[in-house]
Amino acid sequence: MKDHQPKHKPVLLKEVIDLLAPEQGESLLDVTAGYGGHSLAILDKTHVPKTSYFVDRDDNATEELKQLVKLKGATIINSDFASATKSLHEKGMKFDLILADLGVSSPHLDNASRGFSFQKDGPLDMRMDASKGITAADIVNTSSEEALTKIIKVYGEEKHAKKIAQAIMQNTPVSTTTELANIIAKCFPFRGKIHPATKTFQALRIAVNDELTQLRYTLPLWIQMLKSSGRIAIISFHSLEDKIVKDIFLEHGGNRYDADIKILTKKPITPGDNELVFNPRARSAKLRVAVKK
Ligand SMILES: C[S@@+](CC[C@H](N)C(=O)[O-])C[C@H]1O[C@@H](n2cnc3c(N)ncnc32)[C@H](O)[C@@H]1O
Repeated sequence: MKDHQPKHKPVLLKEVIDLLAPEQGESLLDVTAGYGGHSLAILDKTHVPKTSYFVDRDDNATEELKQLVKLKGATIINSDFASATKSLHEKGMKFDLILADLGVSSPHLDNASRGFSFQKDGPLDMRMDASKGITAADIVNTSSEEALTKIIKVYGEEKHAKKIAQAIMQNTPVSTTTELANIIAKCFPFRGKIHPATKTFQALRIAVNDELTQLRYTLPLWIQMLKSSGRIAIISFHSLEDKIVKDIFLEHGGNRYDADIKILTKKPITPGDNELVFNPRARSAKLRVAVKK
């Protein structure tokens, strides 16, 4: 067992703790536990690993969590959160606190072999769970031009999706992150502030990990699984995710007599300059929190 040496800086940590307001003895479900940054800070307040559940689909993360002294006695589940939540829900489990800090961890971006980053040369993979499922290379090399355009347009919100898909089709098979980034960069002779491959990489990552379906399917279950007065916090990193959270929170918590949650964040909370200085990766984070009635 080792002390915590964070590989990932938890974003909006103070804001999550302030709004979730964990209290001694409360149970916790962290569905994207990663390297434990948020979980450990919450456990410092609740002090009950026994009623705490930590889920991550990346076994590098869950193996690290198992080594953390403070998590001894907690339940650590290596699974995608849709499957893990379904099975906890079927067992009738309820929680005081639920946290989802969506997206990728720093090790995903920093480790070239995971294939998430166009700034590092690696296999075009992008699976959070590297043990199964299709890779980003499978998608670019086997999709039709029409299907690839749709993925890049819808999941990347990329207005040049067709042009990019055509360029990719002319250069298949593509097997590395650098090859893909260069194919896309060549489509755009004028360099803007962001790399022209940014949105396409986001799109492929969302498709590979089925990110939006996971969230859309599971968020209503998390709301059901909150105990009365329980709190739920969701941190998202792109507008497609944030829209799902906003809409589902409103469906359950609008100004209706039968609303089952009260939304605590009228607008999403975003990181301040003081956080961005030491953690620029937090820049697109948006936090929404609600409390069960
Ligand atoms: C932003 S990181 C979480 C970091 C964590 N809060 C911390 O402080 O260390 C997101 C984590 O969620 C995991 N993840 C993303 N989507 C998931 C899903 N659908 N099911 C399970 N884990 C998921 C990723 O593997 C990653 O480790």
